[in-house]
Amino acid sequence: MEHDTLSDLLQAHWLLYDQVEQFISGEESKEQMPDFSSFAESLAEKPADEFRESVDKANISQLASLIRVCELCPLSQTRLNAVPGMGVINAKVMIIGEGPGEWEDKSGVPFVGRAGKFLDAWLQSISLSRDENVFITNIVKCRPPGNRNPKPEEEAACEMYLDKQISLVKPEAILCLGKVAGNHILQRQGTLSSMRGTFHQYRSIPLVVTYHPAAVLRNMSLRRDVWNDLKMLAAFLKLPLVTKRGT
Ligand code: URA
Repeated sequence: MEHDTLSDLLQAHWLLYDQVEQFISGEESKEQMPDFSSFAESLAEKPADEFRESVDKANISQLASLIRVCELCPLSQTRLNAVPGMGVINAKVMIIGEGPGEWEDKSGVPFVGRAGKFLDAWLQSISLSRDENVFITNIVKCRPPGNRNPKPEEEAACEMYLDKQISLVKPEAILCLGKVAGNHILQRQGTLSSMRGTFHQYRSIPLVVTYHPAAVLRNMSLRRDVWNDLKMLAAFLKLPLVTKRGT
């Protein structure tokens, strides 16, 4: 890709993402647009190896810019927007979902659909929020067509982004949502119920797997198990539980 085109593309994506974040938070943006011109120059026309090297050296916002222009797997051909993730670094908890759905693909922001609103309520119940102490992302950053499960080669192409996000965000704990994310991270082929209800370790980071909010919306009887998993995580992180009537 030409340097100017890449620079324009990075700027357009940044502006869109900034506007969506402002819309969600209801606050004016405090962030200044990074210098995409020199960054684009360093990326333009790079072969895959050099692209990977740039990922290695990137900070969290450069990484998001790289993900937005990624063409390493066929999902890049069908996406509207890549969805790098959002939240804070040095997060208490990193949330890892499966992959963007329709609304995330349209907006470029993770977990904004019905499942996302439900997830925000779960987070709030244990004193967490995506603006303050959480980083939210997915194992694949582009929407699989028709919301099918990501293919192993798509997960593999995206793996370096998740790896890098984990090392930059340095979460105190990880919460995986759903069987696909749990199996990918724990490198197994288990049922969700065999993974939930206990702590695992991922690169020495404590990790909990629970049901995906979309699955709970389909079957509300799973709420009890989710609440038990959230309480276990909150107790470990010493986070106060927030009941509906207050704390
Ligand atoms: N489901 C996911 O797994 N991730 C999203 O970002 C949205 C829905």
